[in-house]
Amino acid sequence: MDIPMINPRATQMDAEVLSNKRLGSYHHIVLAVNELAGYARPGNFVAISVGGPGSAMVLRRAFAIYRASMRADGIGIMELVVAPHGNGSRWLADRAPGEKVNIVAPLGTAFGIPTEPVRAMLVGGGYGSAPLFALAETLKSRGCRVDMVLGASTAAKIYAPLEGKRSVNSMTITTDDGTAGIQGRVSDVIPGLIELNQTEIIYSCGPMAMLSAITDIANRYGTMHQCSVEESMACGIGVCMTCVLPVEGSDGIVRMVRTCIEGPVMDGSKVTWNKSREVPEGVWGK
Ligand SMILES: Cc1cc2nc3c(=O)[nH]c(=O)nc-3n(C[C@H](O)[C@H](O)[C@H](O)COP(=O)(O)OP(=O)(O)OC[C@H]3O[C@@H](n4cnc5c(N)ncnc54)[C@H](O)[C@@H]3O)c2cc1C
Ligand code: FES
Repeated sequence: MDIPMINPRATQMDAEVLSNKRLGSYHHIVLAVNELAGYARPGNFVAISVGGPGSAMVLRRAFAIYRASMRADGIGIMELVVAPHGNGSRWLADRAPGEKVNIVAPLGTAFGIPTEPVRAMLVGGGYGSAPLFALAETLKSRGCRVDMVLGASTAAKIYAPLEGKRSVNSMTITTDDGTAGIQGRVSDVIPGLIELNQTEIIYSCGPMAMLSAITDIANRYGTMHQCSVEESMACGIGVCMTCVLPVEGSDGIVRMVRTCIEGPVMDGSKVTWNKSREVPEGVWGK
């Protein structure tokens, strides 16, 4: 069995904040990251040191890379979408242009890109839509059909920038309270869209309950499902085992695997989705 390793391109650096804009419930933050921008793939994440020197927040916080690109002026940039809620994410959302943050990136696995054009559905929950827009652009450039479904509790928590909407064939929005799009959950509309668009693969990112529900639908329709899981992370680099999930390997054995190294992008049909944090029966070693 191969031993999974940290993303070989991962680099630690002080990145300057180029801009920080509030958009609905989120902050869109742009960092200057030099050539590192060329290494990041849709699905990778960044681990950011929060709180500044002497802070008691010793653990880095994980954020999906929304987009990484080279600007026309030759500066490599990395964009993030941050939902401020706890002390670490609030600290990050408060950073002003010119300040620096210490990052380790790119980390984790990326979404697999098909070699042939396919009919893809991208499903994002809340800020989970962030890594899907760069993925949509990549898929479109390969000739794929891209249907996007975004869901959130309320309109302000839908992250859908205008340029992102342009890179998809169709966009469906759901909100729990009906303040935008269709009232309900993404799982209410996905079956109809799979049938309408003859979807061959689903890519998803969002809360674990949403990913679990999408896996059930994908299994029912025999559709491939790559999801970016969001398990709590402490180190982000494979050392602490905080982020483990029960996942079936190619040998059929279910093991607890580190989602910061073998994820966050995983085959949804291989994950044992369970609400409790307990190691399920039948997992290797239990
Ligand atoms: C792969 C990935 C991608 C993500 N992408 C985004 C994104 O694009 N945008 C966004 O806003 N958020 C994202 N998140 C969520 C984000 O990492 C958390 O919201 C953030 O860690 C919150 O930090 P906080 O200090 O604000 O919250 P708090 O709740 O105060 O702190 C959470 C932190 O506590 C630590 N922790 C939690 N559980 C444990 C444990 N069992 N043992 C040890 N330490 C623990 C972790 O370091 C965790 O980051 C992502 C998370 C993951 C795993
Ligand atoms: S977060 Fe430490 S091993 Fe994954």
